[in-house]
Amino acid sequence: MESFLVNGAKTLVGNVNISGAKNAAVAIIPAALLSDTPCILENIPNIKDVQIQLEILQNIGAKVTKLDENTIQIDPSNISCSTISYEAAKKIRASYYFLGALLGRFNHASIAMPGGCNLGARPIDQHIKGFEALGAKVELEHGMVQAHAEKLVGGNLYFDVVSVGATINVMLAAVKAQGTTVLENAAKEPHVVDVANFLNSLGADIFGAGTDIIKIKGVKHLSGRQYSIIPDQIEAGTFMLCAMVTHGNITIKNVTPKHLFAITEKIKNCGAIVTEFDDAVRVQMPNRPISTKIKTMPYPGFPTDMQPQIVAMLSLASGTSIVTEGVWENRFKYVNELSRLGAKLQVNDRTVIVEGVESLNAAPVKATDLRAGAALLIAALAAKGATEIEDIYHIERGYDNVVDKLKKLGADIVKINK
Ligand code: EPU
Repeated sequence: MESFLVNGAKTLVGNVNISGAKNAAVAIIPAALLSDTPCILENIPNIKDVQIQLEILQNIGAKVTKLDENTIQIDPSNISCSTISYEAAKKIRASYYFLGALLGRFNHASIAMPGGCNLGARPIDQHIKGFEALGAKVELEHGMVQAHAEKLVGGNLYFDVVSVGATINVMLAAVKAQGTTVLENAAKEPHVVDVANFLNSLGADIFGAGTDIIKIKGVKHLSGRQYSIIPDQIEAGTFMLCAMVTHGNITIKNVTPKHLFAITEKIKNCGAIVTEFDDAVRVQMPNRPISTKIKTMPYPGFPTDMQPQIVAMLSLASGTSIVTEGVWENRFKYVNELSRLGAKLQVNDRTVIVEGVESLNAAPVKATDLRAGAALLIAALAAKGATEIEDIYHIERGYDNVVDKLKKLGADIVKINK
């Protein structure tokens, strides 16, 4: 079993390079199967979730060639299978993107209900509603989702909830459908825009991604191009908070500052000094953070994927903060673990009340999911003494080379194998 051993309370100073966005990469990899010819993807993060998506792609017949550390070539021309097994799908939530992509390519797809972080109910009714609007018949049988259409025809669709996954999935299915599809109440996250930009670079005709109405005119063929994935806003935000809890000074490079706006504004309210450059942000934190009130929302609101991490930071703030989860039903499983380090947290339905303490103290803890793990890492970097974080495979699902990146900033962290 692998753990991180973190000797905390060290000031982090220096530069860190942010990797490609997990949630863009895990969608763009399946999207590549819609192309008739090979694509080259740059800025691919080296993380478990990406490896799993690539394995699924290879299992159905694509050829994946690693060109360098962060660049891959995907040749989808020999894919013949449109079924994704339970063994593959259970490992990762984003396996559901193969449903939209395979449906778009073959008019048929069959995939086991996807797995992923346990954040409460994770329905896929909006994905299904979208496929049905394109004329597909979707059935759930023996844990498999089966989608089939004689032909896909563009349609109009209003999403009942704002869903990143459903917006991208329906976009994938619609890109080669006959006629025009209009998606209303679409998600506006940077990774939704990145998938649309990628598909447009292959010859798709998608207009309006990044607004809540997306129009997709179906095209017959897509052909491979070279495309670079956007930087990971959540990895960047996590390092911003590492600077805050260690009273550090970190320049976070290879980012799109605009994508970080909600995080930047919030941490400035909490006392951080943030300097923006073209593709970098510097975070300095000379004083103790100040408490605040936050509610997570779909983009451009404060991201739910930063909620556990910001609670870790606020647990060291002066005063009492109130953090409300506005996206997921249950994203407070990390609270008990964070409390072991001395954080004073009280959960009430979808809100956590954070009574700031002067300092945190080391204790053995366990990551319960990806962002829960990131929150524990932030807390451990601030805590006095040596914290062991177990179940770090959750963290490695989404953070590329996190140990080396933190070490370069002056953290005392090692990966141990017991
Ligand atoms: N929802 C429905 N029906 C659906 C789909 C979603 O009711 O058919 C609800 C969900 O239950 C949730 C809300 O809509 O309450 C938003 O879910 P969304 O579909 O946007 O989430 P997702 O696409 O499954 C992605 C990210 C998550 C991130 C959310 C919200 C990927 C692979 N995952 O999930 O990332 O929390 O969007 O921004 O892109 C993470 O990276 O740690 C992570 C969990």
